[in-house]
Amino acid sequence: MQEITRLLPDGYSLRLMLERDYPAISAICEAVYPTERPYTSDELAAHHRVFPEGQFVVVHDNVGAVVGTHCTLLLRITDFYLDDSWDVLTSGGSFTDHDPAGHTLYGADLMVHPAHQHHGIGRALTVAARVLVREKGLWRSTGGSRLPGFHRFANVMSAEEYIAAVKRGEVVDSVLTAHLHDGWDAVTAIQGYLPNDVESVGWAAVIQWINPDCPPPAGHEITQIARRKRESNA
Ligand SMILES: CC(C)(COP(=O)(O)OP(=O)(O)OC[C@H]1O[C@@H](n2cnc3c(N)ncnc32)[C@H](O)[C@@H]1OP(=O)(O)O)[C@@H](O)C(=O)NCCC(=O)NCCS
Repeated sequence: MQEITRLLPDGYSLRLMLERDYPAISAICEAVYPTERPYTSDELAAHHRVFPEGQFVVVHDNVGAVVGTHCTLLLRITDFYLDDSWDVLTSGGSFTDHDPAGHTLYGADLMVHPAHQHHGIGRALTVAARVLVREKGLWRSTGGSRLPGFHRFANVMSAEEYIAAVKRGEVVDSVLTAHLHDGWDAVTAIQGYLPNDVESVGWAAVIQWINPDCPPPAGHEITQIARRKRESNA
């Protein structure tokens, strides 16, 4: 953790989540997802109970509280559909579907308080999760990237075309561009990941980072996972 803290500007440090962090994490949720119900202390306690080593936070010394968090769990991803929603993948936000035998670290949330964004905190939290992937010999990490800029283009291009434009650098998306800069690959567009995400028009990108030490064996690639529903405008 100390090595990752060195990636951060002075005054910030990275560590695992503690019980006293719960109110600050709920406050970050409220700040970045004003239309969503923030995590409750009971849910954060459940995350801590099922997978404490996968709950990362960045603390700002002057603020004396958490300013960024990355909440992860292990999944046997073939138990799911490629286009399952966040709600399904997190078992309603409880993380009780965490499977210690899973080969995939699923990043359920990566959030940085708006007052502390663009300081490399998202990147440091991402690196922390990748260290865990390598330590545990997992195949990959995955996530569903919001596409908050998509609403500006939804009438002229599909979500799949939007993702391709962001990948080519022709369009900057405040979330997907950050993920791509951090080494994620955007695999495909899915609909209904966060149904209330108006900015993303309900769409998201499946993103993955493959562990170079231990890639998935043939036949276990994320592209092999079936979709739940047919999509009309991807
Ligand atoms: C996405 C998010 C976590 C990024 O956190 P952050 O701490 O600001 O990111 P970092 O400072 O580590 O930036 C990482 C990289 O992304 C780039 N980046 C960050 N924000 C960006 C933006 N708004 N537009 C374009 N690029 C951006 C940075 O330039 C950096 O790349 P570089 O070093 O090559 O220039 C943050 O914007 C956030 O919390 N958003 C709201 C919640 C959310 O939607 N989370 C994602 C759920 S899928």
